[in-house]
Amino acid sequence: EKIDGDLNKKAAGEKAVEFIKDGMVLGLGSGSTVYWTLKKLGELVEQGLNVKGIPSSKRTEGWAKDFNIPLTDFSQVQSMDLAIDGADEIDKDFNLTKGGGGSLVREKIVDANSQKLIIVADQSKLVSQLGKFPLPVEVLPFGWEVTARKISEMGATPVLREREGSVFVSNNGNYILDCDFNLIADPGLLHKELKQLLGVVETGLFINITDTIIISGDKGIEVLHK
Ligand code: A5P
Repeated sequence: EKIDGDLNKKAAGEKAVEFIKDGMVLGLGSGSTVYWTLKKLGELVEQGLNVKGIPSSKRTEGWAKDFNIPLTDFSQVQSMDLAIDGADEIDKDFNLTKGGGGSLVREKIVDANSQKLIIVADQSKLVSQLGKFPLPVEVLPFGWEVTARKISEMGATPVLREREGSVFVSNNGNYILDCDFNLIADPGLLHKELKQLLGVVETGLFINITDTIIISGDKGIEVLHK
């Protein structure tokens, strides 16, 4: 499998392991930036670090197994000490758009059940306002056309996600609508309104969920705190 080798993604992803302590239960995020976190974490495990992780996607689960990171699940643990995850957009209040890779529901369950969430990203993800990146919304396949129509009545242009000529199916067996709302004035309100629509499983808006962002770019690696 080909991984995005962007040096800023790699730098931010690797930096995050500095926050991992022996004995922690970790939430393992998704995407090509977190790939580098997992790779580095695998090296630390090899050297004797004792951690367990809950993966937020099948892809992450595969990588964790490749790197010999011990896994666990919600039948064994109530919550995690630390989650490390990527993002598609990050605004000034540290609200996020996620789901570019299609794992937003599992990511939100993992991230929301961790004591702390660290987001790793290259500087291209920082925006003044969310919305340029079309918002991923996971919907039930049944009646998705109706759900899409309701979302378009809210001012968006929803596009059913496809990959390689077929409808993209999430790890939960659902569809993703990529919804262009233009710039999103109030992400918290939009999230609430979308959640009330029948057929919507979850949105890719992650509001008030993190206070720490690791960004890599022209200025090197920065750890930003809210
Ligand atoms: C996956 O569903 C997403 O939320 C990812 O976290 C996000 O797309 C970031 O991915 P990259 O690190 O590959 O840019």
